[in-house]
Amino acid sequence: MLAGIMPDTITIRRPDDWHLHLRDGAMLRAVLPHTARQFARAIVMPNLVPSVTDIASAVAYRERILAALPAGAEFTPLMTCYLTDATDPAEVERGFRTDVFAAVKLYPAKATTNSAAGVTDIARTMPVLERMAAIGMPLLIHGEVTDPAIDIFDREAVFIERTLAPLHRSLPELKIVLEHATTGDAVDFVRSAGPSVAATITAHHLVINRNAIFAGGLRPHLYCLPVAKRETHRLALRRAATSGSDKFFLGTDSAPHPIHDKESACGCAGIFTAPAALEIYAQVFDEENALDRFETFASLAGPRFYGLPPNEATVTLRRASWRVPERIAAEPGPVMPFLGGEEVAWRIE
Ligand code: DOR
Ligand code: ZN
Repeated sequence: MLAGIMPDTITIRRPDDWHLHLRDGAMLRAVLPHTARQFARAIVMPNLVPSVTDIASAVAYRERILAALPAGAEFTPLMTCYLTDATDPAEVERGFRTDVFAAVKLYPAKATTNSAAGVTDIARTMPVLERMAAIGMPLLIHGEVTDPAIDIFDREAVFIERTLAPLHRSLPELKIVLEHATTGDAVDFVRSAGPSVAATITAHHLVINRNAIFAGGLRPHLYCLPVAKRETHRLALRRAATSGSDKFFLGTDSAPHPIHDKESACGCAGIFTAPAALEIYAQVFDEENALDRFETFASLAGPRFYGLPPNEATVTLRRASWRVPERIAAEPGPVMPFLGGEEVAWRIE
C-alpha cells in the first residue's frame, strides 16, 4: 500500500485470537458467537472453576465449546492446560502429542481471576517446562508478580526482571508468549529476547491508558489485569503491534463478567472485547497508518509462532462506523462490552 492513501476496505486472511476467556455454561453460549463471527481459532484460557488441569477436563471443555457454537460457524478452539505446582510432565506431553493441548498457561498463584491454584514457585514446575522445551510446546504467561509490596503498575516490569528474564536465560529454547503485554518494558524484553519469545497485545490496552479507569469517576468496566498503564506504555504497545514484527500478535483477553460483578464493591478484573475486537484493532492500525501490517499482526504472526498454517479463508473490513451494543444478554446477568454504546470506525462485511 502506498503511504498517504487511505483504503476504505481491507481484506486479510481470517484472523485468530491467541488469548481468550470463553467461560462455561450459559455465559459460554452468550459470548462464543461473538468470537466465532470474527476469528477462525482461539487459544482458550483454562481458568474455569475447577481449572482445566488435565487431558480429560480439556477434552470435555472442548466438547462443550463445540456444542455451544451457532449452526454453520467455522471455529476451532485450541485448548490450554492450567499449570500448577503438581502438573505431570507426561500428561502435558501426551496432551500436546494428541492435539488436545496447544499450550500450557502459567498463572502465578493469586495473580488474577481464578488463579488460586496457580504456580507458587516456578522452580517447582521446571520438570514440566524442560519437557515443553524439548517438544516445542508453548508456555503462555500471565506476567505479573504477586508480591503485595510491589506497586500494581510495576508488577509486569518486576515479573520480567525477577522471573521471565531468568527463565528465558535458563531455558532459551522454551517457546514463551508473554500474554497481554502492557508496558514498554515488556515490548523491549520481547524484542531483545531470542526468537522463542513473543507477546500478545489486547485491543483495550491499545486504546486506553490508566487515566481512563478514573475519568470523571471510577470506571469498573475498564478494570482488568494487568491493569492499563500510563500513556507512554500505550504508545509503546501501539508501535510494537503495528511494527510488522512477528513477535507481537493478536490476543484479545476478552474476559466477560456479569455487570453486577463488575459494578460492585470489589469489582472483578476483565474487559469483554469480543463483540467488536477485530474492528477495534483495525481502527487502531488505521489510526497508526499501518493497515498494511494488520494481516501480520492479526492473521500471520500467531500461526507462525505456534507452528500452525495460517487460515485460508479471508475477511474484509470496511471503513463504516457502527455502534457497539451496550449490553449483551447473558446468564447470570448481562455483560457490558468494551466501548459499549460508542462508535467504531471499521466494520466486518
Ligand atoms: O482482567 C483479567 N481477567 N485478567 C486476567 O488475567 C483474567 C481475566 C478473567 O479471567 O476474568
Ligand atoms: Zn486472560
